[in-house]
Amino acid sequence: MAANVNMHPRVLSGMRATGRLHLGHYHGVLKNWLKLQHEYECYFFAADWHALTTHYEDPSQIEENVWDMVIDWLAAGVNPGAAKIFIQSQVPEHAELHLLLSMITPLGWLERVPTYKDQQEKLKEKDLSTYGFLGYPLLQSADILIYKAGLVPVGDDQVAHIEITREIARRFNHLYGREAGFEEKAEAAITRLGKKNAQLYRNVRKRYQEAGDHEALDTGRALLEEQHTMSLGDKERLFGYLEGGGRIILPEPQPLLTPASKMPGLDGQKMSKSYGNVVSLRDDKETVERKMRTMPTDPARVRRTDAGDPDKCPVWQFHLLYSAQDVKAWVQSGCRSAGIGCLECKRPVIDAVVQELAPIQERAQSLADDMKTVQSIVADGCMAARDVASETLAEVRQAMGLKYR
Ligand code: TRP
Ligand code: SF4
Repeated sequence: MAANVNMHPRVLSGMRATGRLHLGHYHGVLKNWLKLQHEYECYFFAADWHALTTHYEDPSQIEENVWDMVIDWLAAGVNPGAAKIFIQSQVPEHAELHLLLSMITPLGWLERVPTYKDQQEKLKEKDLSTYGFLGYPLLQSADILIYKAGLVPVGDDQVAHIEITREIARRFNHLYGREAGFEEKAEAAITRLGKKNAQLYRNVRKRYQEAGDHEALDTGRALLEEQHTMSLGDKERLFGYLEGGGRIILPEPQPLLTPASKMPGLDGQKMSKSYGNVVSLRDDKETVERKMRTMPTDPARVRRTDAGDPDKCPVWQFHLLYSAQDVKAWVQSGCRSAGIGCLECKRPVIDAVVQELAPIQERAQSLADDMKTVQSIVADGCMAARDVASETLAEVRQAMGLKYR
């Protein structure tokens, strides 16, 4: 675990505002957020600047996409009483941190992030040889570091972005955590731990630095995390001093891998808007019916009398997610013996999806009818986010010699 100045690591995650959400988002990301919001201090935001990096030629959809996305989050159960919900561009501190971090970010680091070339290849119709697109992962780093987030729930396609965030944090701390008189300040901070804790701190620091004892390091970190009355600056010094570096101003985050979504698309590939195989959270009953009735099945079942193999059928993937044991057994034997037809087989999953979506859609509708409430939730979230972000930014400015205010 990376050193974190917070006892309960803050969780931060963002989603690019690219439109309405679908079942893949729900099972892959949102359900995870719903759980995390009760376990941690969570910040979830709409990454509208990140959407601009690829949609700068036609930004007309971005605002609508942001509101649609926020409505879908709330409708799915993200609770503004538990998690802060905000919009990236409404917290301009992200942009200033991005700028300041750009001063210390080697171009090669950004050019080597795999998504840079991959996405340029994939989105050939767009000119992505822009400064903003190259800086995409750095903007993401700023998003994360400005909250000193300890945990960042993401899919595995985003791990490289968390990794570069860690490298940038390390570089920042290395460059700016070495204040004048660091050792003296750290020693003075130790005495403020109280006699017993000071002795424990010195002991574990020695064990870690002389013998590489990682258990000692963990003990030391736990001890520091418990210090609720100590100043932030002293805490950062003692975290850094424990490991033998300078102050840790920007702690390194960890990715929190989203449990691989088993959500298949209507064609059995991963559900994704770009594959055109999605069930949107706001598809009405008729649309869900139509999409799922026309879903491909095992191609071996040309005629009703041909036996099939669920392992070769995307409908089976839906059963795995939605059906109870007895229904699954019915599918297995019915498919393999041609005892059931494919439409018959789809019925329970169509019903399950419709049933799952009904309450979400009901909530989405009442939120869409009451945009004032949605806007005020986001305004509150932005305010809470700015409180934290401006604190970090003040420290960063100070550390970088910009201490005019
Ligand atoms: N790049 C992320 C994605 O495409 C979205 C994102 C932007 C993000 N900033 C972030 C995710 C900060 C986690 C933390 O999914
Ligand atoms: Fe797929 Fe069910 Fe048809 Fe078998 S019976 S091919 S599992 S839809």
